Amino acid sequence: MDNLFDLTERVAIITGGAGLLGQKHAEAIASQGGIPILIDLAEAEPKIKAKKIAEKYHVEALGVAVDITQPDQIQKLLEEVISHYNRVDILVNNAANNPKVEASLSKQAWHRLEDFPMSVWEADIRVGLTGAFLCCQIIGSELARRKNGVIVNVASDLAVIAPDQRIYRQAGLPEEQQPVKPVTYSVVKTGIIGLTRYLATYWATSGVRVNAITPGGVYNNQPDEFVKRLSNLIPLSRMAHVDEYKGAILFLCSDASSYMTGSNLIIDGGKSCW
Ligand SMILES: NC(=O)c1ccc[n+]([C@@H]2O[C@H](COP(=O)([O-])OP(=O)(O)OC[C@H]3O[C@@H](n4cnc5c(N)ncnc54)[C@H](O)[C@@H]3O)[C@@H](O)[C@H]2O)c1
Repeated sequence: MDNLFDLTERVAIITGGAGLLGQKHAEAIASQGGIPILIDLAEAEPKIKAKKIAEKYHVEALGVAVDITQPDQIQKLLEEVISHYNRVDILVNNAANNPKVEASLSKQAWHRLEDFPMSVWEADIRVGLTGAFLCCQIIGSELARRKNGVIVNVASDLAVIAPDQRIYRQAGLPEEQQPVKPVTYSVVKTGIIGLTRYLATYWATSGVRVNAITPGGVYNNQPDEFVKRLSNLIPLSRMAHVDEYKGAILFLCSDASSYMTGSNLIIDGGKSCW
């Protein structure tokens, strides 16, 4: 059988590509011969991360500093990609403000709903939703113009279930100071699913498939107590290892998922079925 997951020479733009999971998405694409283009804020060092992937997988990989809230930067990136490769095939909308509530002991850092600042609301929406929209508008439109392409939007289990705020609780703090997962995270991730469905039908006859992936929490040096509390909510009794979404990314980016659009692939150790 042909390799259904083959991505030889396909050019894939990954937003937030220098982050924890973005690099793994890029590795997955590189492992099947694709050309990952990691776009991220300059301070996340996308060039250095791309170089490591290129060396490890013996493929071309590019890292470019792009702020996805700035349409002119996305447009410039697209023009550079087209002029260099004469093609673009895949967009993975992975960037988001990704608050690590569990690592914080400061009540100041994680705002409860009652005093949630509008500035944080706007900043989170701007990256997670507006940024994804702009990438779809600019890069997705190019895929549609070429009548071929794939978009994968990275959601979260909090796109399909509410956060269980009990796992973030800290002993000794009064109720009104208990840390919580910010409201914006649920809103952004649920919005990403809406964007996925909208674009899947909008571009259905233009050769562009649009799906979402819903990952559960990944091990990343969280405090033991937090890991224990979260694992208790997961039928597989553990968080995900950082490599465990690679297969799904490959599936969604490749022809292996050729009859799939507008779907949300949930990979959460069973958390959302409990
Ligand atoms: N890590 C998890 O447990 C987990 C679980 C479920 C879903 N997710 C989702 O997966 C995605 C990746 O998460 P992660 O854990 O790798 O987070 P991360 O913080 O390591 O990566 C996010 C990346 O986005 C980049 N970014 C932020 N603003 C940007 C902007 N304006 N322009 C370009 N890039 C920008 C950051 O610099 C960072 O490198 C996120 O959408 C997150 O919500 C993560």
